[in-house]
Amino acid sequence: MTNNGLFISFEGIDGAGKSTHISALAQTFEAQGRVVTLTREPGGTPLAEKLRALVLSDAMDAMTEALLVFAARRDHLQQLIEPALARGEVVLCDRFTDATFAYQGGGRGFDLKTLSYLERLVQTVQGLAVDFIRQPDLTIWFELAPSVAAIRLAGSRVPDKFESQPLDFFTRVSAGYLQRCDAQPQRFARINADQPRDRVWGEVKRAVQQRGWLG
Ligand code: TMP
Repeated sequence: MTNNGLFISFEGIDGAGKSTHISALAQTFEAQGRVVTLTREPGGTPLAEKLRALVLSDAMDAMTEALLVFAARRDHLQQLIEPALARGEVVLCDRFTDATFAYQGGGRGFDLKTLSYLERLVQTVQGLAVDFIRQPDLTIWFELAPSVAAIRLAGSRVPDKFESQPLDFFTRVSAGYLQRCDAQPQRFARINADQPRDRVWGEVKRAVQQRGWLG
């Protein structure tokens, strides 16, 4: 936590069912008098939303995709996330850099060292401790088997560029998430998303309560 601001990100493969829990957590924090900034990646600012539209629809190579999501992230951090944290708000962000490691790194097979370099470059916060790299205080990972996610997604809205990827792409994305979780276990709450919604919500709430951030 920084300046009493709180930064929580939500991750998982497409179809893992994050959205309702993000809204529920926002309402829970608000009921306790906290100001909540709800946002998403790629996106969250007018410029980053334009980049999102390109990333989700246009064909491009993995490096271009990685550079665009990090460009969007830079603007998002500078314009929205850092100011909200400095005001002491709770920032709930639907996806952040773990998604880049999972989708571009795992899914597309893009070089992880280059992603780590871009992460450091884009997320270094000036004016705080030397080498401070902004990361979520907590990342809630909705873990779901790709085959189950595919059934959930089937018949929903028209799939975007990522949602229409084959099953083995999502198997690699899941492995990418696992690698990030294993590298920074204290930051992650790993949640079994293959349960009834109220059970999943119970786990989400508990993960936040355990850290002393909810009454
Ligand atoms: P969503 O907001 O509906 O989850 O869609 C965002 C999509 O973009 C999702 O399929 C994951 C993908 N994505 C990346 O490929 N790299 C990233 O860095 C982020 C944040 C998202």
